[in-house]
Amino acid sequence: SLSTVRTVRELRERVGAWRRAGETVGVVPTMGALHAGHLSLVEAAQARTRRVIVTLFVNPRQFNNASDLAAYPRTEKDDAAKLDPLGVDVLFAPDVAEMYAEGFATTVSVGGVSEGLCGANRPGHFDGVATVVSKLLLQSGADFAFFGEKDYQQLQVVRRLVADLNIPVEIVGCPTVREEDGLALSSRNVRLSSGQRAVAPALARELFLAASALSQGKDVAETLAKSRVAIADAGFDPVEYLELRDAETLQPVEHMAASARLLAAAWLGETRLIDNVAVTPA
Ligand code: PAJ
Repeated sequence: SLSTVRTVRELRERVGAWRRAGETVGVVPTMGALHAGHLSLVEAAQARTRRVIVTLFVNPRQFNNASDLAAYPRTEKDDAAKLDPLGVDVLFAPDVAEMYAEGFATTVSVGGVSEGLCGANRPGHFDGVATVVSKLLLQSGADFAFFGEKDYQQLQVVRRLVADLNIPVEIVGCPTVREEDGLALSSRNVRLSSGQRAVAPALARELFLAASALSQGKDVAETLAKSRVAIADAGFDPVEYLELRDAETLQPVEHMAASARLLAAAWLGETRLIDNVAVTPA
């Protein structure tokens, strides 16, 4: 049954015992407030590895806004109750002092893929993500780590840092889980008013419409401009970005190529929603 571990030392003891028994280990990093999107990563982990660790740490270093950090939902008891019946082995839930001891002075900063998109509008965010994910991967010593495509730029940042720092783990990207109306599941969706919740699925809808136009060879700049207007007309204000990028390097794509990704961030009141879809030539 599920046990909650608070220290790196105890986590290492657990994993060490599994390793000596020849068992494979998967890790699913989260900030808690678990929903079906997170649980789909747990299922992917269980399909692949004998042992599964879920980490729960609301990482202060990746929040560039104190009120967003303060408002972030904290529901550890409910989270543990969701993981226990799934057969997760360990919930690693360290406190801030365990992760960032006094004198902590190291930052992992990934160039290239972390520039632009969310990196342009959330200064320091991806440094915070890269630093904590590096720590979690090294602390757990997992063979596989599971991340959602929902946070597509984050997934590419993690792939880059693992390759660059030779961290011996395989990163597995998992598809975005959506509500029936298309809205991507997110811990921040609970902040939407009922009026905003009714508008929210327009973001995914417009992304899928634009992706299908692009795969049929429609002009990139024209399609993006039209789609941006449609997202704004639906009620998003502002549309922070809507961009077509190379699916691996995240470099801007001006003409449709083999593998591209359409990514967007847009606001409903105080809530910022992000989403992205694959674009492949027809
Ligand atoms: P968090 O937002 O809790 O997300 C944890 C993981 O769940 C991420 O890999 C994210 O992409 C995935 N996820 C969230 N919503 C999803 C959905 N609708 N479908 C599929 N996967 C989804 O992302 C973070 O936490 C943090 O930045 C973290 C990586 C834990 C570092 O602090």
